[in-house]
Amino acid sequence: MLLDLIKPFVPKPIKSAIRRRRQERRDARLRQTALEQAEREERERLAARRKIADYYFAKKLQMVEEWIVRDTENSNFYYDLTDLNKHQLAHFVSVVGNVTVEDAVGYIGELAADQPLFSHLQAGVTASYPQKEIVVAYGRRLGWYALARALKPKVLVETGVDHGVGACVLCAALLRNFAEGRPGRYFGLDLNPSAGRLLTGPYATVGEMIYGDSIESLGKFPHAIDLFINDSDHSEDFESREYEAMAPLLAPGATVLGDNSHTTDALGRFARSHGMNFLFFREQPKAHWYFGAGIGAAYPARR
Ligand SMILES: C[S@@+](CC[C@H](N)C(=O)[O-])C[C@H]1O[C@@H](n2cnc3c(N)ncnc32)[C@H](O)[C@@H]1O
Repeated sequence: MLLDLIKPFVPKPIKSAIRRRRQERRDARLRQTALEQAEREERERLAARRKIADYYFAKKLQMVEEWIVRDTENSNFYYDLTDLNKHQLAHFVSVVGNVTVEDAVGYIGELAADQPLFSHLQAGVTASYPQKEIVVAYGRRLGWYALARALKPKVLVETGVDHGVGACVLCAALLRNFAEGRPGRYFGLDLNPSAGRLLTGPYATVGEMIYGDSIESLGKFPHAIDLFINDSDHSEDFESREYEAMAPLLAPGATVLGDNSHTTDALGRFARSHGMNFLFFREQPKAHWYFGAGIGAAYPARR
């Protein structure tokens, strides 16, 4: 009211200054609203993207929470493979082992059904580890077993034995090969003088330990090797040197498996430089947060 009365007496420059000020305030309000809107949209965009990633990770993170409070092993994890992953493994074994997929499926099932082996390993692992909730499961060792069955090696070498779960699995395969008239012998190479403590009973009838650095042991190894499995020192440099130390010992048509091929190309390089094929199988652990390792295979080029 008062403003309306004095308006005619306000000089023009002051009036336009007031108008400018009002316009500036309106512009500032608009800018603020636009800023808030942009911030809201950005928050919504990030939340939507988090939801996409959560779809893949939330279940794994839940498994981590459950795993933390359990009393299981802290390394060299035991887990089964998903059913889909076992089908993929059967195809991998079929190609690398040069057998039908049906035979590969049979070999994988054979190990899963081997109750005496499971009882032997479970008892040994329970006695060896301080953790009390460990349940033995084979993971990618299902593939090692199936390939030992498919290839029927006369000499099988595993570098890196630890307690000997892999050793017993491989010796179980050799025992079945023996029963089919195709005998073979397992040699486990490990630095640790107490490694291979599970390699007892029937499994020890087809297998033995050689203690010391695997590269040094390979330098003195007296047999041609039909199936070689690398699982010792997991650095790329050591892995490569181990393959080169073993190369002169490979029997014609031999196969080499690597436990490091999910992280290095050492076995791929070895295959390429020795005229062999290379293939990689990726593990999908069942009900475990670990993203899985795999099996690298350098195998004879068949065509
Ligand atoms: C991952 S564990 C092996 C697991 C085993 N293959 C299994 O299936 O349970 C690795 C083993 O490699 C052995 N190792 C590490 N460096 C080695 C080396 N230079 N020579 C021989 N063995 C080695 C360790 O003592 C350990 O027992």
